[in-house]
Amino acid sequence: MESVNGLVRFWPETASAYAGELDSLLIWFSVLLAVLVVPVFIGLAWFAIHYRAGADVDRRPRASGNWKLEVGWMVVPFLLSLFFFFWAASLYVRLNEPPADALQIDVIAKQWMWKAQHPGGQREIDRLHVPVGEPVRLTMISQDVIHSFYVPALRVKQDVLPDRYTSLWFEIDRPGRYALRCAEYCGTAHSRMTGEVVALPAEAYQAWLERAETPLGLAERGERLFRSFGCSGCHGAAGPVRAPRLEGVFGRPVPLADGGTVLADARYVRDSILFPRRHVVAGFEPIMPSFRGQIEEDEILQIVAYIRSLRWGAADEPTPLGEAEAAPERTPPWAEDLP
Ligand code: CUA
Repeated sequence: MESVNGLVRFWPETASAYAGELDSLLIWFSVLLAVLVVPVFIGLAWFAIHYRAGADVDRRPRASGNWKLEVGWMVVPFLLSLFFFFWAASLYVRLNEPPADALQIDVIAKQWMWKAQHPGGQREIDRLHVPVGEPVRLTMISQDVIHSFYVPALRVKQDVLPDRYTSLWFEIDRPGRYALRCAEYCGTAHSRMTGEVVALPAEAYQAWLERAETPLGLAERGERLFRSFGCSGCHGAAGPVRAPRLEGVFGRPVPLADGGTVLADARYVRDSILFPRRHVVAGFEPIMPSFRGQIEEDEILQIVAYIRSLRWGAADEPTPLGEAEAAPERTPPWAEDLP
């Protein structure tokens, strides 16, 4: 229950089609439960009173059974419950399948704040600006403990875990500011780990993007990191060491040395940076060093954005990345071991 203009609002506001459908599911499921349970309790009370000790009533045994009635009261509730099972399952599946054209936003949780970074490089804390009427997909990770991303008005909640990406998508259909909560106890200031999702109509959203603009987009930041951490030394076109090329790899299956394959998604890229031995690409030596402890979660997501942006052909051009050369070269600690 929340209070609005001094009045108590019993039902929380809804801001997406999904939220409306989830509410319908809960309401109708409650109705079904009431239909199944209320007659039992009414019967219980009626029999208890009618046949109470000492009451002058007919206690002779009655006809013993009616198979049609018995089959009916098993089959009908079973089918009705099954209907709700399929309805709920379809909602659940849809919640886990973001449309391919969804806007990709990264969310990094830490004690005790929500950080977001947008494809254009815009970053914000405890606030998430999104366009109305457009699917938005969040890729989330925690820098410390388990948090949970919860927007009551959207009826979506997803744990945000350390060391693993989780995702969530939604499409808001009404402009407004919606409460963002952490729904997993995460330490002293858990209750203050709040924020808001600001849903703006297309034009206002565009204006916000421009206002919050930074000189570098997310993929460009990632490209800088890619160079400054020395990744480009091996994964670049003219590297001294043979390492897998990364152009066009994102979103595709990668054959591994152990005979398996792995989908090149955000998780794969992160694993490759922090735990390079986990997935060794077929035909390559396991010589990549780990960057564990040297790189932040938001930086990894920037590199993910960069690798996602790489297309075939881009690397065949002279050096399209030339301008980013200005980024200072951080000497990686493993560089001395190389020939
Ligand atoms: Cu973060 Cu509770």
